[in-house]
Amino acid sequence: MEKETLIEKAFEAKRKSYAPYSNFHVGAALLTKDGKIYQGANIENSSYSLTVCAERTAAFAAKLAGETKFQAIAITSDSNDFTPPCGACRQVLMEICGEDLEVILVKPDKESKSFKLRELLPYSFGSKQLNDV
Ligand code: THU
Repeated sequence: MEKETLIEKAFEAKRKSYAPYSNFHVGAALLTKDGKIYQGANIENSSYSLTVCAERTAAFAAKLAGETKFQAIAITSDSNDFTPPCGACRQVLMEICGEDLEVILVKPDKESKSFKLRELLPYSFGSKQLNDV
């Protein structure tokens, strides 16, 4: 899978965003180890706190489809700066995709930069804590 293809899928997902309140449209494309892509976009709600971010809609779709092994997620918005995942999404991605996930941030002009999820969420809380009581 070409990185460019994953990035294109994130741009395509952004066009499906439902963000009438913030007007901040975010797209995500999550790549499994065997090459499948799950798209996500932010879905807002008039009861603002019920909004779900693009990264989480992608991760939940993949999880519901039974996926267990992931390579990378590309994330983009209309901001001229990079759009890093919020703290809640980092925690959810850690749970569903694991610390080795490559997180590719993409500007509208397609400039990108990548991190490992463990760099974005160091010393994270997880099932290891729950299992150690
Ligand atoms: N948003 C995302 O989709 N992903 C993030 O990681 C940050 C924020 C969305 C939520 C909301 O719909 C809009 O961007 C403004 O916060």
